[in-house]
Amino acid sequence: MQITNICCIGAGYVGGPTMAIIAKQCPEIKVTVVDLNEARIAAWNDQDMDNMPVYEPGLSDVVAQARGRNLFFSTDVDKAIDEAQMIFISVNTPTKTYGSGKGMGADLKWIELCARQIARVSKSNKIIVEKSTLPVRTAEAIKDILQYAGNDIEFQVLSNPEFLAEGTAVEDLLNPDRVLIGGDSSPEGKRAIESLVEIYNNWIPRERILTTNVWSSELSKLVANAFLAQRISSINAISELCEKTEADVNEVARAIGMDSRIGPKFLKASVGFGGSCFQKDILNLVYISRSFGLTEVADYWEQVIIMNDHQKKRFALNIVRKLYNTVSGKKIAFLGWAFKKDTNDTRESAAIYVADYLLNEQAELRVYDPKVVERQVYADLDYLGSRTAEQNRASIGVGADPYEVCKGAHAIAVLTEWDEFKDYDWERIYDGMLKPAKIFDGRNLLDADKLRSIGFIVQSIGTKSLKKQLVAV
Ligand code: UDX
Ligand code: UDX
Ligand code: ADP
Repeated sequence: MQITNICCIGAGYVGGPTMAIIAKQCPEIKVTVVDLNEARIAAWNDQDMDNMPVYEPGLSDVVAQARGRNLFFSTDVDKAIDEAQMIFISVNTPTKTYGSGKGMGADLKWIELCARQIARVSKSNKIIVEKSTLPVRTAEAIKDILQYAGNDIEFQVLSNPEFLAEGTAVEDLLNPDRVLIGGDSSPEGKRAIESLVEIYNNWIPRERILTTNVWSSELSKLVANAFLAQRISSINAISELCEKTEADVNEVARAIGMDSRIGPKFLKASVGFGGSCFQKDILNLVYISRSFGLTEVADYWEQVIIMNDHQKKRFALNIVRKLYNTVSGKKIAFLGWAFKKDTNDTRESAAIYVADYLLNEQAELRVYDPKVVERQVYADLDYLGSRTAEQNRASIGVGADPYEVCKGAHAIAVLTEWDEFKDYDWERIYDGMLKPAKIFDGRNLLDADKLRSIGFIVQSIGTKSLKKQLVAV
């Protein structure tokens, strides 16, 4: 079927950018992105591009080009479903916070609601595309709901996981390593797969579009994220060992990354990975494995999360230790709050957990992030529920000027690898701080030697400990 009308349910970090690129690359297809969240849709429709709900380099240009031409953002979900031949489901699937599978399995409530809404509204045959990351066999649940809707409509369900990384979404969507489409092997299933292949083939070479069965496609997404996260936990585990020895994790990463079987990417030691996908997808993998009684498999993957939690905690505890075992009443400046650079997304950001540990130790925190707004920082901490909203606001402040945020601080912690941090006037920052002025670089971003020559005491991840540096002096 030649697709001319697409609807996407969910205007978030995945749905928004993905649909913007499809609209840009396929001007003949009408793309409508719908969401229940009116404020979010209003923001996507805002003429002032600074108000876009998702910050991604290059995205505002793409939206400006296609919006109103063949890209539309709306809250009228029923109408968009009714008109579309193909419906992408791109709603959130957070880890369950209640009942069975709490803290492990994905909460499919939103997906199910979507499926029921599609079943209720549809008057013509439709292809449903799972875009959200989902546990294996979700497509079957969606199919069940659609099939028992009692209308004589044919639904084909495809799995088309999204592999874009935030901060590089536009580039990843325009030039993906691969596009994965899973579907039924029946003639109708194959036709549905082909319709989606044709859309992507407008700008992606056919050999980079893989087609598989639905289950392989669903599982591949979880496995890709699990493997990526595993590399980070692996290098982070080594970073702790490096801090105890004379090895430098950057040198180790470089040396092993040059082995073509290992490769150089995703070997950057850090304060810990964040983002909406890695932890959630691994928990999912662990949960599915356990539900099949595969204890060793589950334990193996769970260790990736355990290591990541350890890395965040160890970073925070190290700050406390190096500030003479107490941070009570001490001011610590956070540079960065987003889970990585070039995004305003803070979901599962390491900064949140490091802040939580330090607040437990009664530190006074000041945060600067180029793209994260104050209310988001508070929302992230309030969500943890470790203390009241008032307590959070009393002990953490958010500033719009990094120099002000660092002024009078005992220490600076770098939590996100924003490029601009490298170019700050570090002499000026040093002059404004209490001495000894310490920097805990959770991203190995800054030039430690240069900072040391100014007078800072610098602790990076996976390099000589402060004590060893002092002994060396
Ligand atoms: C990830 C996957 O990369 C993407 O393919 C999938 O579609 C969604 O999940 P994302 O979470 O947006 O994308 O960002 P990613 O670049 O993978 O970074 C995840 C986290 O790992 C960040 O906190 C980042 O700082 C951290 N990271 C990444 C490291 O600590 N070290 C590295 O070497 C790479
Ligand atoms: C290994 C390292 O590759 C080499 O760099 C180092 O110098 C010595 O150790 P080797 O043990 O000779 O080399 O062989 P390798 O090809 O790495 O295979 C090791 C084992 O892993 C074999 O039993 C092989 O069958 C198995 N393997 C390898 C797999 O099961 N799957 C794979 O994808 C690759
Ligand atoms: P992701 O990173 O997966 O894109 P987000 O949370 O950024 O996740 O976006 C998911 C969006 O889906 C949210 O804006 C939410 O309001 C929307 N959403 C969830 N359920 C529905 C639904 N049944 N109908 C329409 N929109 C929905």
